[in-house]
Amino acid sequence: MNHRLSSIPGPIGVFDSGYGGLTILSKIREALPAYDYIYLGDNARNPYGTRSFQIVYEFTLQAVTRLFELGCHLVILGCNTASAKALRSIQINDLHQLDVNRRVLGVIRPTVECVGGLTATRHIGLLATPGTVKSESYPLEIKKLFPDVQVNSLACPMWVPLVENNEADGDGADYFIRKYLDELLAKDDKIDTIILGCTHYPLLLKKIRKYAPQHINIITQGELVAESLKDYLHRHPEMDAKCTRNGTCIYYTTESEEKFSESASIFLNELISVKHIDL
Ligand code: DGL
Repeated sequence: MNHRLSSIPGPIGVFDSGYGGLTILSKIREALPAYDYIYLGDNARNPYGTRSFQIVYEFTLQAVTRLFELGCHLVILGCNTASAKALRSIQINDLHQLDVNRRVLGVIRPTVECVGGLTATRHIGLLATPGTVKSESYPLEIKKLFPDVQVNSLACPMWVPLVENNEADGDGADYFIRKYLDELLAKDDKIDTIILGCTHYPLLLKKIRKYAPQHINIITQGELVAESLKDYLHRHPEMDAKCTRNGTCIYYTTESEEKFSESASIFLNELISVKHIDL
């Protein structure tokens, strides 16, 4: 048990490697506006998508511990790479030492739960960071829930930098969006559903829809994660009671405050104030 943890109710924590989790946070806040939130972006050490298992696990555990110390009883890993590489290990190895009553949830399971009902061909595609693809977390989760569904995955290493450099709507983005979509569909032309398994990809959605064949369902995660959290809090009144409700949101970054506020405007339609934090 970590003795710096307080038992009084607190905000819900949302963690991401950087800015991308803001796409998840904004959907969560739309669905559950009454709750308090703390967003933590590890911008000083992102991207996570190209890092090894061990490093993503260590960084994510530090962030979760810090969010617990800041008063959160429930933490959502808004980052796919962290959900893929660190969530299970934290749930199995670390939670009981930190505090058995706290919870950490990810974004993969809520996303996967909907695919069985969407694909008619039972062939789906996953577009994500190299780390998420390499972890095979999506195909493994999908096999557990829908054993008849085939998954083909493709890493899209250029999509995160396009978004972070504010080029999502620029002409250069078209080339890389077509390239990865074509490569994925060349692997399996029966794909009728594509999961965008990375926090940044919803910002490319307009162009992804433009270049993907019309019949393909494109799945973004924000609403799915938000609905799943709503359901979780409903099913776990003991956890719901530990989440405070004043409608506030505090933002922390491990990088500079100015840099975060400036770039966060790519992901959020509001000006935010942010505090620096060390992990
Ligand atoms: N947030 C990460 C994810 O969803 C993308 C950015 C990164 O690679 O750190 O996988």
